[in-house]
Amino acid sequence: MHFLITAGPTREFLDPVRFLSNPSTGRMGVELALAARLCGHRVTLVLGPTPLSPPKGVDCIRVGSAREMSRAVLGRYGASDAVVMAAAVCDYRPARRRAGKMKKRRPEVTLELKRNPDILKYLGKRKGKRVLVGFAAETEGLLRNAEKKLREKNLDMIVANDVTQEGAGFGGKTNIVLILDRDGRVERCPRMTKRALARKLVRCIERIRSRSFPVDK
Ligand code: CTP
Repeated sequence: MHFLITAGPTREFLDPVRFLSNPSTGRMGVELALAARLCGHRVTLVLGPTPLSPPKGVDCIRVGSAREMSRAVLGRYGASDAVVMAAAVCDYRPARRRAGKMKKRRPEVTLELKRNPDILKYLGKRKGKRVLVGFAAETEGLLRNAEKKLREKNLDMIVANDVTQEGAGFGGKTNIVLILDRDGRVERCPRMTKRALARKLVRCIERIRSRSFPVDK
């Protein structure tokens, strides 16, 4: 199979020296790329700004903003069999990016923000035979919000984590997740390393693929 995986945050610049972003390090997506590669799959990793390096043997496209990530993903979508959106994509960007540094003239500044494209939702409308997997980063209503995202983005599977929980979410080496599939199954996973979780998710994706297309590899 050909895995297309996104990882890391995006950066939405408001001037040449400042941006909006989030604390994602891309570790979950990088581990997924490694796990898929070690299982013998072809892997394209679309990687946002992070100090982590892509695993060996993985085709890596570096991106900055959500719109760059969207372009990179759409460029590789046609050739993919499974897409995992592990990236923490910024939902908004400054309405205008200034050419020069904003000077601190006023005591208060209001920033106008514009919605970024929802990459995964767009992919879900053009799913074809692919396996589509999303993540849900939540601070409340974990199951309810994850179910909603699974349905609205037309996913096969969603991995939900409460980012406020100790041992879960951004940056760390472990995660605590619920795995939901489109048949209504919910698996509650105990705290585990992102490496172990990545291996588990790759196996789940292989199973979904072989159930849908038993003769394909
Ligand atoms: N995602 C995406 N494009 C965006 C935002 C999110 O493709 N502009 C993807 C993420 O990579 C993730 C899934 O959608 O796989 C859910 O992301 P999340 O941030 O949890 O939720 P949102 O869809 O952004 O919704 P909300 O912010 O309202 O919770």
